[in-house]
Amino acid sequence: MFPTSRARMALLVAAIIILPVLVTTALRAQAASPAVERMHAHLTALTNIDYAVVRGDLDDVREMSKALLNELSMDGLPTNAQKYLGDLKGAAREAGEATTIEAAARAVGMMSAACGACHAGLGTPIAMTAPARPPSISSVRARMLEHYYSVDMMGLGLQSPSDDHWKRGADTMRKAQVMKVTMKDEALARDLNEAEAAYKQIGVKAGGARTPAERAAVYGEVLTSCGNCHSLHGRVFGPGLPKL
Ligand code: HEC
Ligand code: HEC
Repeated sequence: MFPTSRARMALLVAAIIILPVLVTTALRAQAASPAVERMHAHLTALTNIDYAVVRGDLDDVREMSKALLNELSMDGLPTNAQKYLGDLKGAAREAGEATTIEAAARAVGMMSAACGACHAGLGTPIAMTAPARPPSISSVRARMLEHYYSVDMMGLGLQSPSDDHWKRGADTMRKAQVMKVTMKDEALARDLNEAEAAYKQIGVKAGGARTPAERAAVYGEVLTSCGNCHSLHGRVFGPGLPKL
């Protein structure tokens, strides 16, 4: 039912390397001022931090959040952006100090909302490119990639901010088909089956969330569920496995 561990490792390497590269390449296509280039770097940084929470790797979350915090500056931004930058810094600082996945996930949700608050507050919502939706195939791995797609869309929905992106993420989550798995590792199979049902419920909640604060909280909840299971079971990634 699963690919060999070597194939799985290759896929994982591909996912970790390709996701950020795709973001960077898509962004490089646009000519940019230094301020815009910095924004692109922030987007790549936040995507990587999000993914570290999903992987359940708190060390990476802390390290990357502190690095982002150091990069944030007002250079080239309008003076009325000061307050929003302060909010983003506060959230990045919290993520940099998080000692639980839940706290990290909450802080990352606040960071995404802070990006969106500045863009909306300055009257310049950003059109962020949606990732391609992975095909729906009934295997654990395929479902995980679909989960990541939903999470990614919701994150972009907060950062742009874009109602449409958020709703697309929430919709795929709400409509995800619950697949009952049986595995040699019974504890993992039980956790997966429970998580899949809970996941759809969070999708319903995400669909009903209206304000950026509500959405950021639901986003944090989703990331917590991903990170907790990966860190507990360490199947393809998580702090228990060797770093690539
Ligand atoms: C303090 C205000 C502020 C914050 C906070 C902020 N941005 Fe921006 N962002 C801007 C402004 C202003 C622009 C428009 C720049 C321009 O077009 O000159 C922009 C543009 C962008 C762009 C588009 C650049 C382009 O190609 O035109 C992206 C992507 C982006 N921001 C991502 C983010 C992400 C991700 C975060 C959170 C980590 C974030 N921003 C936080 C103010 C902010
Ligand atoms: C109850 C446990 C559990 C939960 C909850 C969970 N996962 Fe997973 N995840 C797994 C397992 C097990 C694998 C390894 C699958 C395999 O055998 O390849 C995995 C693998 C992954 C992968 C790597 C896929 C690959 O091979 O490229 C991604 C990405 C992923 N999960 C994303 C998510 C996201 C996003 C969430 C939250 C919305 C989530 N997962 C929630 C158990 C879980």
